[in-house]
This record gives sequence, structure tokens and C-alpha cells, in this order.
Amino acid sequence: MQTVTDPAEMQAISEKLRLGRQLIGVVMTMGALHEGHLSLVRLAREQAGIVILTIFVNPTQFGPTEDFHRYPRPFEQDAALARSAGVDYLFAPEAGAMYPEGFRATVSCSGISDLFEGEKRPGHFSGVATVVTKLLHITRPHIAVFGEKDAQQLAVIRKVVSDLNIAVKVLAAPTMREANGLAVSSRNIYLTREQQESAGAIWRSLCHAGERLAAGETGLTELAEATATMIAHESGFRVDYVAFVDKETFMPASRAMKGRSYRILAAVFAGSVRLIDNACFVA
Ligand code: PAF
Repeated sequence: MQTVTDPAEMQAISEKLRLGRQLIGVVMTMGALHEGHLSLVRLAREQAGIVILTIFVNPTQFGPTEDFHRYPRPFEQDAALARSAGVDYLFAPEAGAMYPEGFRATVSCSGISDLFEGEKRPGHFSGVATVVTKLLHITRPHIAVFGEKDAQQLAVIRKVVSDLNIAVKVLAAPTMREANGLAVSSRNIYLTREQQESAGAIWRSLCHAGERLAAGETGLTELAEATATMIAHESGFRVDYVAFVDKETFMPASRAMKGRSYRILAAVFAGSVRLIDNACFVA
């Protein structure tokens, strides 16, 4: 595994690989690698001859009160995990190399970026869309793998890639879960053992909503409310939102139509730790 920190060097390597007709897959992360990230690497490995993993804690996607400074950065451990997962290139730039003095450009995607996570975290998706676009230009992949855990992020990225005609195939990898259903996330390390146990209520409640939808319930607003109540009751966490949305546009859905798929989104506070999860169900 070769570690690269300079964007121009990474771009030159990718260009050369492409000229050598190598198929490149990229997995973008902010580090603090866990089993979820490694499953994305495995999917990239299945699809591409060369796998690039990027590690960059992107400052522009954090709000002023969010955890940018305390975000975990176990670089040596991450590099060892990446190497053992079969990553070929680890691209880990410094912030100054990604956003040099005078950097002004941004990528934004209106509509979907203004809802739910976008509404709660102003500027977040513009930060994500900008850095993902930059990382795609730098790593020049044929395939990019993102996790379904961040379903709205994935939808924003798909829209940016499609609207800006970026020649990359975006693949979604299913969410990895702990035994109790808690979605694996870098931020889970902030949770106490009791919070980790209580957090199993999120996935249980989403699955319960899916069962009610499959059984013919059509009032999605009411079902989302009942799910929020179940999460709060079983976990003791404060629910930020629970909502059913159209699975592509993320527009809120209030009435289910038989045979259609809906995504249920949940965001909760376990103390000061914000957890998000989602699932897709057919009515
Ligand atoms: O999902 C993440 O880890 C980040 O949002 C991403 C896609 C690497 C962009 O910084």
C-alpha cells in the first residue's frame, strides 16, 4: 500500500493507472475506520483492480458547534487496517492541500440538501458535495462506494454526479450493524456502554415501522410519529426527527401507496451524541 498526501501526485498516479487500463475503485472516509468502512473496501475490491481509500476529516462539512476538533484521528491504526484490507493507495491529504489559501469554489445541490440532515446541519451537504467532487477529480475512479448508513449523503452524491456528468459509477453498500442493530459508525465510540445497548431501540423501532407498512398501514405521518415515540420510550433518547421520505428525492411522504418503496429516516440524541439511521421498506 502506498500512502499519498499530495493531491497532484495522487491525480498523476490515477491518470497513469487509467492509461494502463486499470479499473479504479475509491472509498472515501474521514478515518477512524471500522467494520462498516472495511465492507465498503471489500465491495470496491470485488469491482475494481485498484482500490484507493481516502482519509480526510473535511472541515467544511462540520458546523461551528460540531465535533471537528475532537473527531477521532487514529491514523496509524487506520493505515494498518487499510493495508490489511487490501487497499492499494491511501490518499490522506492535509487540509491546506485540499483548501489552499484563496480557495473559493463550492459545489451545492439544492432541494435534497435543504431537508432533514441539511436543515439540521446548515452547509453540511455543500461541504460534502465539494469535497467528494474534489476527491473524485483527484482519484479519477471508475467506481465509488458509499454506505447506505448516510442515505441522504448518498442521494446528494448521486445527484451531484448525475447533474455534473461526472463519469463514475456510484455503488451503495448496506449498513453494517452491531448485534443489537445499532448502525456501525465512527461516532459510536462517544457512546457509553449503556447508550450503546439502548441504541438498539432505533433499529428495532424502524423494523417495527416496516412491518406495519407491509401489513397495510398507509398513514406515514402517524407511523413516523409512533416510531419516534417507540424510540424515545425504549431508549430514553431525545428524538430529533423520524420521517418517511421518497427514497430518491427525500421529499417527505405522508400516504403510502401499495407496492412503492419508502425510506424511513431517524435522527436521535444519545446524550450529546447525534445518531442517524434509516431503512427502506415496501408498502
Ligand atoms: O461519509 C463520510 O465519511 C464523509 O462525509 C465523506 C463522504 C468521506 C466526505 O467527507
